Amino acid sequence: MHLSAVVPLGLAAVAAASSGCSALHRSLPSSVFAKGSSVYNYEAQNFWSNTEIMSPACVFRPQSSGQLAKGLKALVHEEAQFAVRGGGHMGIRGSNNIDGGVLVVMSNLTTLQLNQDKSLVSVGPSHRWSDVYSYLGQFNLTAAGGRLGPVGVPGLLLAGGVNFYGNQVGFSADTVINYEVVLANGSVIEVNKISYPDLFWALKGGSSNFGLVTRFDMQTIPSRKVWAGIHTVAAPYVDRFLQASATFAANISDKKTHVVPALIAGNSTLGSVILFYDSDTIAYPESLKPFTDIPAISSTVGFKTMSEFAAETGEAVTPHINDVFVAGTVTGTNYNELLQGISIINTTFFNELPKLYAQVPAANISIIELDWQPIGADWIKASNARGGNPLGFDEAKVYLCYAEVVEWIGSAYDKIVASWVEETTYAINNATQKAGLYDPFNYMGDAAGFQSIFPGYGAENHQKLVSIAQKYDPTAVFQSLMPGGFKVY
Ligand SMILES: Cc1cc2nc3c(=O)[nH]c(=O)nc-3n(C[C@H](O)[C@H](O)[C@H](O)COP(=O)(O)OP(=O)(O)OC[C@H]3O[C@@H](n4cnc5c(N)ncnc54)[C@H](O)[C@@H]3O)c2cc1C
Ligand SMILES: *[C@@H]1O[C@H](CO)[C@@H](O)[C@H](O)[C@H]1NC(C)=O
Ligand SMILES: *[C@@H]1O[C@H](CO)[C@@H](O)[C@H](O)[C@H]1NC(C)=O
Ligand SMILES: *[C@@H]1O[C@H](CO)[C@@H](O)[C@H](O)[C@H]1NC(C)=O
Ligand SMILES: *[C@@H]1O[C@H](CO)[C@@H](O)[C@H](O)[C@H]1NC(C)=O
Ligand SMILES: *[C@@H]1O[C@H](CO)[C@@H](O)[C@H](O)[C@H]1NC(C)=O
Ligand SMILES: *[C@@H]1O[C@H](CO)[C@@H](O)[C@H](O)[C@H]1NC(C)=O
Ligand SMILES: *[C@@H]1O[C@H](CO)[C@@H](O)[C@H](O)[C@H]1NC(C)=O
Ligand SMILES: *[C@@H]1O[C@H](CO)[C@@H](O)[C@H](O)[C@H]1NC(C)=O
Repeated sequence: MHLSAVVPLGLAAVAAASSGCSALHRSLPSSVFAKGSSVYNYEAQNFWSNTEIMSPACVFRPQSSGQLAKGLKALVHEEAQFAVRGGGHMGIRGSNNIDGGVLVVMSNLTTLQLNQDKSLVSVGPSHRWSDVYSYLGQFNLTAAGGRLGPVGVPGLLLAGGVNFYGNQVGFSADTVINYEVVLANGSVIEVNKISYPDLFWALKGGSSNFGLVTRFDMQTIPSRKVWAGIHTVAAPYVDRFLQASATFAANISDKKTHVVPALIAGNSTLGSVILFYDSDTIAYPESLKPFTDIPAISSTVGFKTMSEFAAETGEAVTPHINDVFVAGTVTGTNYNELLQGISIINTTFFNELPKLYAQVPAANISIIELDWQPIGADWIKASNARGGNPLGFDEAKVYLCYAEVVEWIGSAYDKIVASWVEETTYAINNATQKAGLYDPFNYMGDAAGFQSIFPGYGAENHQKLVSIAQKYDPTAVFQSLMPGGFKVY
């Protein structure tokens, strides 16, 4: 069963799609799967959310980067449209899937291997972060990847990657020292700071605009256990909880920390914060006290391995739900500005919420959440020290990248939720803009399909990304034949 409204394709596109499948069938018969086959049935449903399910003409599941290169050349030759899916967690319809075209899946690119001195781990794009953490855990190591175990490796690393170690290492992508990439012309190249340095920079936030990544070589991080958990407080403490968020953001002086404070809407609003401290000996560190001093209705904080923690946070991920995530950012330089930014987002969002409840029954709402991710000077310095990325952060400011999350049951509500979040987001951003706290950065990993990403990186970085895309993909294969995802132009 799927719920896609099949978009009527032009005759030429239909012909090209089927010629893409036939061309793949001719050149790589054992890696292409027709509608109705068991592999098609499995892979076409192998997405996180219901929102992502569509009706591709066939599935291409390459066994190696060489096969992917050969298949890509065949698709380009036929001018056939395709989509690419890694972990399938970008919950935007059409970002990683396609009606009537070829769905390319990374399921069989399964490299997961430490190098000899264990300083680097090579990860294929089939993997989820839970795979990476359980593999590295055997060696008392981890990596700066996703905070929730089920999330996919490739999409996160190509978006930047907000991670628990950010104040020590920057974005997840900043810890990648080499990429294996299949270019539009079918070349398979190794991309690092010495070979193709411009492309190396562009891949750290530029998404799928330049090539298809078949291996990421990432730095490892020693880790036996961390002190971490989810600390949840009741409605009467919500104001104090938001103040704690501003207190933390105004003074991110302890690099071992990361927090994700969130409000969960319901009959009574809850404050729930993911707390992380990179230590296997220190509990309740000073820097997290603004949160841990608030009495909890439930708390899971304690010493655990990264693998255990990512499994715990992963329990919050509901499969086959309908979803929308929306991203936005406020900045500030002190407690008052940061609290004001948080407060405007909070108030605007909760003021708009009755309009949503009036249209979607409570029984069909799975979760409504608002969260904030603080990114300050240490994080941005760590990114820059590793060579930088296109995201365009300024060390002089503290960024609170917020996300609105709505998950529901029943595609009947898709349009209602979509227009509600769009209106609510504009209302929030107009209000933060008026207060002088708005920033145009929208984190790709949390963004909705109606949002733009690259203008928020700043005009100069955006233009550089456009030039790099043109240099490595002169015929714009990754924009025209692969329409899904966020495009630089
Ligand atoms: C529950 C949940 C928790 C999350 N937690 C975090 C978090 O802690 N930190 C964070 O930074 N983000 C987080 N995110 C956002 C996440 O980074 C993005 O959803 C990301 O796209 C997931 O990667 P994926 O491989 O699963 O994505 P997919 O949906 O498979 O792919 C995303 C995009 O990348 C393209 N793509 C995929 N693989 C490749 C490849 N190999 N080469 C080129 N292009 C490719 C796809 O075509 C698509 O456009 C979370 C998302 C969810 C739903
Ligand atoms: C390819 O991936 C699928 C899905 O994970 C798996 O069932 C299958 O065994 C893999 N095939 C090969 C040849 O690795
Ligand atoms: C990992 O750390 C534990 C202690 O927490 C130790 O007992 C074990 O030997 C270590 N394993 C490796 C592979 O270093
Ligand atoms: C709120 O309370 C009402 C009445 O008790 C109940 O029907 C509804 O399901 C609750 N909603 C949520 C989101 O808990
Ligand atoms: C900043 O936080 C640290 C704890 O991480 C604390 O010791 C220090 O007093 C705080 N500084 C200010 C100015 O609040
Ligand atoms: C957050 O919003 C709620 C609901 O509008 C409001 O009661 C609360 O005072 C707000 N808190 C802050 C700090 O903005
Ligand atoms: C609302 O959710 C219920 C399950 O909670 C589901 O059975 C029903 O189909 C949903 N309503 C619509 C209109 O999709
Ligand atoms: C302000 O709101 C309008 C529509 O109401 C919208 O077009 C505009 O993009 C909003 N501004 C921001 C910064 O989101
Ligand atoms: C493919 O493109 C790359 C980068 O532009 C170039 O170096 C390489 O020579 C091209 N390969 C072929 C076979 O044209």
